[in-house]
Amino acid sequence: MTQLTRRSLLGSTTVGAAATGLSTGLIGTPAQAAPFRTARRRDRVERLLARMTLAEKIGQLRLANTAEDTEAALRTTGCGGVFSVVGAAQLNALQQQALQTRLAIPLIVGLDVIHGYTTNFPIPLGQAASWDPEVAASDARTSAAEARRSGITWTYAPMMDVSHEPRWGRIAEGNGEDPYLTTRFAVAKTKAYQGADLARPDTLAACAKHYVGYGQPEGGRDYNTVDVSIQRLHNTYLPPFRACVEAGIATVMASFNTISGVPAHANAYTIREVLKQRYGFDGFVVSDYTGIQELIPHGIAGNGTDAAREGIRAGVDMEMTSTNYVEHARDLLRTGAISQREIDDAVRRILTVKDDLGLFDNPFVDPAGETVSVSAQARAAARTAAARSLVLLRNENGVLPLSKGRTVAVVGPLGTATYDLNGTWSGLGTGASTTEPTTVLDAIKAISGGSVTYTPGCAVDDTDTSGIDAAVAAARAADVCVLVLGETAAMSGEAAARSDIGLPGVQQQLADRVGAAQPHTVAVLLNGRPLTLTQLAAAVPAILEAFAPGLEGGNAIADALFGITNPGGKLPVSFPRSVGQVPIYYNHENTGRPYDPDNKYTSKYLDLPDGPLYEFGFGLSYTSFEVSGVRFSSDTLPRRHGRVTVAATVRNTGARAGDEVVQLYLHDPVASIVQPVRRLRGFERVTLAPGEQRTVRFTLTREDVGFYDDQARFIVEPGQVEVYVGTSSDQATKAGVLTVR
Ligand code: BGC
Repeated sequence: MTQLTRRSLLGSTTVGAAATGLSTGLIGTPAQAAPFRTARRRDRVERLLARMTLAEKIGQLRLANTAEDTEAALRTTGCGGVFSVVGAAQLNALQQQALQTRLAIPLIVGLDVIHGYTTNFPIPLGQAASWDPEVAASDARTSAAEARRSGITWTYAPMMDVSHEPRWGRIAEGNGEDPYLTTRFAVAKTKAYQGADLARPDTLAACAKHYVGYGQPEGGRDYNTVDVSIQRLHNTYLPPFRACVEAGIATVMASFNTISGVPAHANAYTIREVLKQRYGFDGFVVSDYTGIQELIPHGIAGNGTDAAREGIRAGVDMEMTSTNYVEHARDLLRTGAISQREIDDAVRRILTVKDDLGLFDNPFVDPAGETVSVSAQARAAARTAAARSLVLLRNENGVLPLSKGRTVAVVGPLGTATYDLNGTWSGLGTGASTTEPTTVLDAIKAISGGSVTYTPGCAVDDTDTSGIDAAVAAARAADVCVLVLGETAAMSGEAAARSDIGLPGVQQQLADRVGAAQPHTVAVLLNGRPLTLTQLAAAVPAILEAFAPGLEGGNAIADALFGITNPGGKLPVSFPRSVGQVPIYYNHENTGRPYDPDNKYTSKYLDLPDGPLYEFGFGLSYTSFEVSGVRFSSDTLPRRHGRVTVAATVRNTGARAGDEVVQLYLHDPVASIVQPVRRLRGFERVTLAPGEQRTVRFTLTREDVGFYDDQARFIVEPGQVEVYVGTSSDQATKAGVLTVR
């Protein structure tokens, strides 16, 4: 198989995979047009389109990735946009050159502003652990303002790939394993990036990626094959995209994977039929990096001409990095392999987004306003986000929170991490490199009120155990030990699959020895994916999961360790006991032989207990809660315009203020397509003082109880649906049964 090598901001990457297909007939229900789109603007695009030559049109389909390529393209093939170039002065110069072309069409300027431009928020998986979509919105508002003021107009976010694959490094960039949680976060982020008007100086065009199914690569290896049933495609992977189209998202990025044999970049079913026709998406679709070129090693195109034809026919409007469209579109038109209508449609979509962004009125940015440092407001938002993203996984004998004034031994290779606190895709914007996060060690020193030592013990990922003795001695000599363990930033994200998702290197040995020497040992984890923590949980009495918490992560961790804040996050993804359980996810289907510990002939492993170590929706607190009094406004969901309200009372039964996330799950026990054992359809995070109680309310409609069948039809089947309410996917108890008419 041919392999492509390319360079990106991430370094060099090798790509390659295989291909084949899906198809079914669908009837469209167009989404509402984006709120900022007006008839006046549409006219301008049509007038412009009417004046364009074929060469000018084809030029708009090109997205360059360096300043040099953009300059050259503007002089030759034409160019619709540029990405991964930062700096107001440089971007203004490129816009200036674009305005000197015959029709003065400005460039759209993209960047991977994934969880921060200059100010790094927690990685998206960490944000999802907050179970508070406002956390994602605050990242998006801050990032949009910082980036737009610096000349960026388009972000390649939010990533909304639902994933059951912790080996896959890109699970760090998404919202975990659940389509509903992912949808709520993706929509919140989209709305916050785009605001009410894309032309404003603090908004960005968002990009729903990666379309679609990218989260389920075979073996967890990035870019690998995805074979998915039609019902799972529509029930699990597509819902966030559909919801973001409804929220007016400006662009969508195709994914590197195949979808049941047809590469996403050549997939007319998913792009033309589902996205554009059925969902009514009227923005544009961009390829991912060299995704069009990669149709050749996939084995669906023999050469660049074929690749361009397949991409254009499928509905990928703009080609990122590779140049097959600009090289071959004219010939493809001449031979009738593609139509003028297809070209015009792609160009119209691209120009409309540029127009929505106000670029025809002013593509420049004031260099004096460029973001080069972190504002106090952005820092505060990042700290709140990090604090809300922490998940307390274990806390035996009330080891946490720590008391001030005692001696603390900070141990572990990540105690002094800076870059690794930011995680994958840390801000690539101007000023980003000058802004280093406070380390966990320094943050502890600042608030502990006692003496603090630091002994790394080992590196993140090598075999050297010679430092462990010193770490054990330091832990023993102190009152408490904080072990900072996990993965480097480079161990998750793109092209960062791991076959073993335990603690890398000799960190587990370090934890075993330190935990045995110091009973008051607390592990803090920095990581971009679920890890297998069975052995760590046996070694230490407390575990605080921080993912990669961003610029203010060190401070947020220290605040939580000393009880200044109270962790209230919940896992957005299951943490397996062993990598051999993968894929393991809470919303699995029932088998004909569900798990029964007393019956060998049921679905299970001989060598493991049932279920994950820590389930989806799980997280502890320094206080305790009780959910009770679940009541329904009606026990029947009527046929037309039906809705039922489910209310529950949540009470803080402990002695500290804290947060609980009340979660509502459904299960349809008898349906024409086997249904998940639980399906999240509502959640709310509440903060309660000791003794305080609150009523939370969830509204269920027919959309909540229905599902897509194996013909991609959304159906609501009359019958009974069970409703579960509680504090995790396992801790939700059956609250009642709803009759669906
Ligand atoms: C990634 C995308 C990213 C793009 C542009 C690709 O390798 O898959 O997520 O947006 O590069 O940097």
